[in-house]
Amino acid sequence: MSVKVIVGTQWGDEGKGKYVDILAQNADYIVRFSGGNNAGHTIVVNGEKFALHLIPSGILHPGKICIIGNGVVVDPGVLITEMKDLDSRGISTSDLYISDRAHVIMPYHIILDKLQEEFRGSNSIGTTKRGIGPCYADKIDRCGIRMCDLLDKDTLCNKIVENLKLKNLILENVYNQKPLCAEEIIETYWAYALEIQHRILDTATMLFDAATQHKDILFEGAQATFLDLDFGTYPYVTSSNPIAGGVCTGGSLPPSHIHEVIGVLKAYTSRVGSGPFPTEQNNSIGDRIRELGHEYGTTTGRPRRCGWLDTVMIKFSARVNGLTSLALNHIDTIGKLDKIHLCSGYDRNGQITTAYPASLKLLEEVKPVYEVFDGWELTPDMKSFEQLPKNAILYVNRIEELTGVHVKYIGIGKDRENTIIR
Ligand code: GDP
Ligand code: IMO
Ligand code: MG
Repeated sequence: MSVKVIVGTQWGDEGKGKYVDILAQNADYIVRFSGGNNAGHTIVVNGEKFALHLIPSGILHPGKICIIGNGVVVDPGVLITEMKDLDSRGISTSDLYISDRAHVIMPYHIILDKLQEEFRGSNSIGTTKRGIGPCYADKIDRCGIRMCDLLDKDTLCNKIVENLKLKNLILENVYNQKPLCAEEIIETYWAYALEIQHRILDTATMLFDAATQHKDILFEGAQATFLDLDFGTYPYVTSSNPIAGGVCTGGSLPPSHIHEVIGVLKAYTSRVGSGPFPTEQNNSIGDRIRELGHEYGTTTGRPRRCGWLDTVMIKFSARVNGLTSLALNHIDTIGKLDKIHLCSGYDRNGQITTAYPASLKLLEEVKPVYEVFDGWELTPDMKSFEQLPKNAILYVNRIEELTGVHVKYIGIGKDRENTIIR
């Protein structure tokens, strides 16, 4: 039996989906444990591209059980569309299940996400406007609607009516909007319920049983460590805990069951949305990385902010997640630059530190300390680490030294096949 967790070590979009797809080949269960359709996980198989938002990236392998865990917030309309898209491409979703404890994104969550962002003005977080934050807020506020509520029409009706009392007061009196109609929402969501009811199960018990039977379980992280509600660059974060610890609350297996935690990173850094980014290159270098790496959001299409790889972040991620290995992507992309900078520490008023500060004010004040590497060129015959160009090997070795974590997987292209495993 093995229980593996894949997490993002930066600000998301590191290429987690690609590794879930690769490791899913040897897994029985693939489980999402946090976030919702704010995620966009790209998988490329023989040149064919799949972009998944809610459905675990293991779905491309027939016969695997895919689970949307209790820690995920689910927009049922998006889920149904994603299932239909896959079905139309010949990918079966018959073994996809949703935790009965997962919370449901409602129309008022999406509306409030947009209104709150507008209200924040120049301080906006740059959310994906998918209703993620307001849905988690209701979960914490103990008024959320859960997947198990979609199994009984009376319960669903009562909860929608009850929630709308306050939500409509807020919409009308705070945001000057029209109130929402309970009947319309009930009709839409009951129709969703009828489509997915057979998939709503006690997935916690399913996973406890799977663990008891020594099955192989792979947890698919969404978002990343620096978007984590507790450890990220708060308040420019998402509203869940996408770190490895989130598996225990959002995926239902206890810490003692986890064997491996794989941290995915890019050979540079990208960020979508607002917030500090010490190694950002808001200049022609950042533009070049964006173009070479095709750094445009899978979910919102927004251009991603780009900059150098920051090993202070990766070291912090290694500790918070208990990383057992790293999966380093885009070695092909960054090698195309003549000179590559790698951040090895922060200069804070003349003192070098590798501590990641909680205070954004302090973070904005740090100056990255860089080491400089020469670029390299990859050729299609390079299939092992030893075959990589000398400069690429120097870069990878230095990342290992600075972070203290072994780089086990190296991405040299988008496709499932373009991966070196050491
Ligand atoms: P995720 O959210 O962490 O799953 O990552 P995304 O799918 O949002 O973004 C990663 C992007 O990088 C996708 O377009 C991938 O196809 C692409 N990608 C992943 N690994 C590599 C790599 O090693 N080289 C290149 N060139 N592209 C990669
Ligand atoms: P994957 O799984 C990159 C960012 C948003 C915003 C902040 C809060 O593809 O790596 P939210 O809608 O969650 O309230 O937005 O978090 N964000 C992501 N950035 N990749 C993601 O997911 C993200 N999910 C959320 O851009 O800055
Ligand atoms: Mg993504």
